[in-house]
Amino acid sequence: MSSPLCTELEEPLSPSSDQTTPHPEGEFSRRTFVKAAGILGAVTATGLPHFAEAEDAQAAVSTAPHTVDLTLKINGKSHALTALDTRTSLLDALREYLDLTGSKKGCDHGQCGACTVLVDGHRVNACLTLAVVAEGAEITTVEGLANGDTLSPVQQGFLDHDAFQCGYCTPGQICSATALLEEHKRHDLSTVSFATGQTSTPELTDNEIRERMSGNICRCAAYPNIVAAVRAAYNGGRA
Ligand code: FES
Ligand code: FES
Repeated sequence: MSSPLCTELEEPLSPSSDQTTPHPEGEFSRRTFVKAAGILGAVTATGLPHFAEAEDAQAAVSTAPHTVDLTLKINGKSHALTALDTRTSLLDALREYLDLTGSKKGCDHGQCGACTVLVDGHRVNACLTLAVVAEGAEITTVEGLANGDTLSPVQQGFLDHDAFQCGYCTPGQICSATALLEEHKRHDLSTVSFATGQTSTPELTDNEIRERMSGNICRCAAYPNIVAAVRAAYNGGRA
């Protein structure tokens, strides 16, 4: 049975539009169109099961678990992880599988900085980093910053200057500040460096510290003391 569209198209054609007569606009008569549409419909109808099969196969592939065995080097020690889902974030690998709970999960969206760790000396948001990507790198968490009982300069600064209240953001702040001091030593620039015209060796002013720590949020608003702690670490203990 013809579809309503086909019924309409199969109305008697005027002599001038017969398929044997070239159509004035592109040699494509209504009858030719009806034939082409019929052929296309048949192809589509017979092709559909194949598309459905392909979609099923695609769904089966994408939902199958993908796991991997990997070794992460964290705070100087190797940790083997077996059959880890490849989608696992570095933060979840640290906290859920390796019991390194110093790095905190705040937003899990790269917005708060609570999960900051160092990967080859660079600060990264562990919630946005896949664990598999970190294989082969030197990972440092807040647990690895002290040397035995001797705190790192930034840790000591946080203690000396009361730079925490609830302490939830503190591990991320400390890791971030640790990398910040290295970045500053390398003469890395920030928007404040450009705003103040200090584009060769920017001085680590409070504004530079604030800008460079701006990816780390503190709900308790301990910001003035955090700046003082970072300044003290930079000045060898003097705020
Ligand atoms: S938990 Fe990673 S940025 Fe907030
Ligand atoms: S000290 Fe509480 S969130 Fe920063």
